[in-house]
Formats: sequence, C-alpha cells, structure tokens
Amino acid sequence: MKDFLVEKLRENRDLSDTELKALIETNEHDKALMTAADEVRRERYGISVYLRGLIEISSYCKNNCLYCGLRAGNKKAQRYRLSKDQILSCCEEGYALGYRTFVLQGGEDPHFTDDLICDLVKEIKERYPDCAVTLSLGEKSRASYEKYYEAGADRYLLRHETADKAHYEKLHPEDMSAENRKRCLYDLKEIGYQVGSGFMVGSPYQTTENLIADLRFLQDLQPDMIGIGPYITHKDTPFGDKQGGSLELSLRMLAILRLMFPYALLPSTTALGTIDPMGRELGLKAGGNVVMPNLSPTDVREKYAIYDNKICTGEESAQCRRCLEMRIESAGYKAVTDRGDVKRG
Ligand code: 5AD
Ligand code: SF4
Ligand code: FES
Repeated sequence: MKDFLVEKLRENRDLSDTELKALIETNEHDKALMTAADEVRRERYGISVYLRGLIEISSYCKNNCLYCGLRAGNKKAQRYRLSKDQILSCCEEGYALGYRTFVLQGGEDPHFTDDLICDLVKEIKERYPDCAVTLSLGEKSRASYEKYYEAGADRYLLRHETADKAHYEKLHPEDMSAENRKRCLYDLKEIGYQVGSGFMVGSPYQTTENLIADLRFLQDLQPDMIGIGPYITHKDTPFGDKQGGSLELSLRMLAILRLMFPYALLPSTTALGTIDPMGRELGLKAGGNVVMPNLSPTDVREKYAIYDNKICTGEESAQCRRCLEMRIESAGYKAVTDRGDVKRG
C-alpha cells in the first residue's frame, strides 16, 4: 500500500509544516520513505556514488562551537596543520587513486591566510586541471571568498548547523551568529561557487520545529550539496554529557532531503558510520550518493577529533578507499571517481 504522505512529498517535493512534523516524529513512514528516496536517487543519479578525497588541513580553530572537539577552548585537543607540501602529496596520492575532487577542510585557523589558501588552490588546479577543488574552511568575508574563487576554487562547504536563531545561540558562543552564517552561504552562491550546506541531527536542544526550519532554509538556499549527520558527543566540550543523535532520525532526514531535493548531492557521512557499523551503507540506501574518504596523512588523523570515536583514524585508515568501495558495492551501488557535478533541472 502506498504511503500517502511520502507520495505527496515525492510528487510535490514539499509538504506543509504539519505534514513534515508527522513524517519526522514517528517511524511509521520510514520504510516507504527509504524506498521512495532510493527510487528518486536512481532516477536522477543511477547507482553512482561520488567519491571526494577529504584532506583535513588543520585542527586549529579560533572558534568555540559548544559541540565540537576542535573548539579553541578544548585544551586537550591535539593540534596540527599540514604544510603545502604535505597537502600536495595528499592530492598526488588521491589523484593516483582516481579521485577528481579534493576537499580541503579545516578549523578556522588564522595561520591559513587568504594568500596561503589562494596559493594552494592555484597550485592544485595547475597540477590537476581536471579536478574540482572544494574548500571547507568556515566563515570568511565576501572579499576572501571572492579571492579563493578567482584562484580557482569550485565549491565551498559550510553547514548552516541550525537555521533557527535561538537554537543557533544555544550551540555557539556570542561571537557567532546564524545571521552571519547565512550571509556567508548567500555570498558563496552569488559569487558562483557550487555550495554545500547542512546540519546536525539530534544536536542538543533541537526540536522538530528546528528541523523543519532547516528544511525551509535549504529550500530557500537551494544548495548543490547537503551534508547531514548525527550529532555525536565529544567528552571534552561543554556538551560532554549531552545525548547524541540517533541513526533512525538521521536516515529519516536524509530520505526526506532526497525527496525534497532530488537533484542534490547528499553525502553518507563519517558521523553516520561512527554511530553504526553499517551507518554509511544505510545512508546510501536512504538516498545518499556521495562519500568522502579521508586522504589525510594517517599520523594526523586521530588529531582531527571533532567528536568521540571517529572512524577511519587508526591503522586501517590507509585502506579507506578499498573499504569504502566494498561497502558501496555491498549496498548495491557503484563508486565513481569523476568530478560528479550536481545534476539540476
Ligand atoms: N558531532 C557531529 N558533527 C559535528 N560537527 C562538529 N562537531 C560535531 C559533533 N560533535 C560537524 C559540524 C561541522 C562539521 C565539520 O562537523 O556540522 O560543520
Ligand atoms: Fe571550529 Fe568548525 Fe569545530 Fe566550530 S565546528 S569549533 S568552527 S572546527
Ligand atoms: Fe575508512 Fe573504512 S572507510 S577505514
């Protein structure tokens, strides 16, 4: 029997707030949601799963997000930053493995000045003109974003975290604001980047209304990529005693996103894989079509600890690519290494 709400969401790519609330707050629709999400992803993207090589360039951060292990106030955090040569070696290794997108991600580290970032981007684009360069380096001025774009950066990832102002203020110190985060995202879009945004599922104090506000914000922004994953506790943060988000709700939100944004690139995230051994496979089956294997040097991996028990940080992690390829195949999909640009329209 067809599920009325799920079919309505599939048809209209939208529902009223009341209907969304009904979908989000019970598990009754989950089976129909997952099936519909998988059908929609297959119509648009087939069984392709795009691989993005992730390079975590710095674990320093000047910010103090209350949920994150890299927050400046965490004196126990181990800090490192990669040199230009180290980053270029990661790209070289990634290119040999077939990756055609490199994601440079890091905390907001003042060491990485605009000049350094532009120099890096130019060098990578010069060496690998067939690759996309994605930056994920936090909130910057519009002028800075413009410089990176001119240097050749193609994409920028910046999760909005939560669209609700009051909720945002519970998760961040006073010097950060939902308003500035959104300003950054609209700037990035206007400049011409392919933009990724997203939010944590089950972050402290999050309500169903907050999740609906996240969906509404994304409808306005129309990002190319939407990254979501469960909130996971980090013991050395002010939220060290807060509960983490569930696998069930994370998968449900992912499937809802696939139906609302059929065109979107939706990663099945490391956080999903961290809270459940089959999390990433289930994420793909719920509509996910991107994975981001870690390309960072193995000796720094465990230092990029945004939450506890992060996977892919130990001995086994040199093998992330093979490991992920097997997981993708076992879930019934196919890993592809081309640039994998968004398929709108
Ligand atoms: N649990 C899950 N995700 C987190 N992030 C930061 N801290 C945590 C946490 N404790 C996410 C944020 C950020 C991304 C890089 O990681 O959404 O944007
Ligand atoms: Fe820094 Fe990002 Fe962690 Fe916030 S979430 S403390 S900006 S690394
Ligand atoms: Fe990193 Fe499995 S994907 S070890």
